[in-house]
Amino acid sequence: MKNLKFAFLLLATIVMVGCGEDKKEEKESIKLEAPSETSAVSTSTDEPVAANGEIVEVSISGNDQMQFNKNEIRVKAGQTVRLTLNHVGEMSEKVMGHNWVLLKKGTDIPEFGNAAASASENNYIPKGTNNVIANTEMIGGGESVTIEFQVPEKGSYDFICSFPGHYALMKGKFIVE
Ligand code: CO
Repeated sequence: MKNLKFAFLLLATIVMVGCGEDKKEEKESIKLEAPSETSAVSTSTDEPVAANGEIVEVSISGNDQMQFNKNEIRVKAGQTVRLTLNHVGEMSEKVMGHNWVLLKKGTDIPEFGNAAASASENNYIPKGTNNVIANTEMIGGGESVTIEFQVPEKGSYDFICSFPGHYALMKGKFIVE
């Protein structure tokens, strides 16, 4: 009897493992399909010369460890950027909120960050500020947001997440060539 039970359990396990693999394969095939649709657009990122008004897709993600996955983004003058921010973590907007804020040259980041910290009701963007070129709204784990904006003149700009305390780690350079 014991052997029979064991054999049944073994069989059941094999069937379950088999099903699990099927599901995995399904998920992977879905994942593979999604990027192929945008690949035609994203290849334009590599073109050496940008035409005026060209839309360039940029994506950046933030995680639960308070990190962006990029500390540098390069674009070309004359382009329009379609930037997508993905929060790949699980924590809520209130605890580990992320946004993407592009600052004008000469902005004092700690000063801006401190002003932003007391602007929770305004997506942590100081009201009436003239230091922001473009920004997304604040998002939480699993969410994403896309914005479009005109690339500013050639130069090096700072981007940050303006959630309280995040700018120290979540920052990078936005370089316009
Ligand atoms: Co953040």
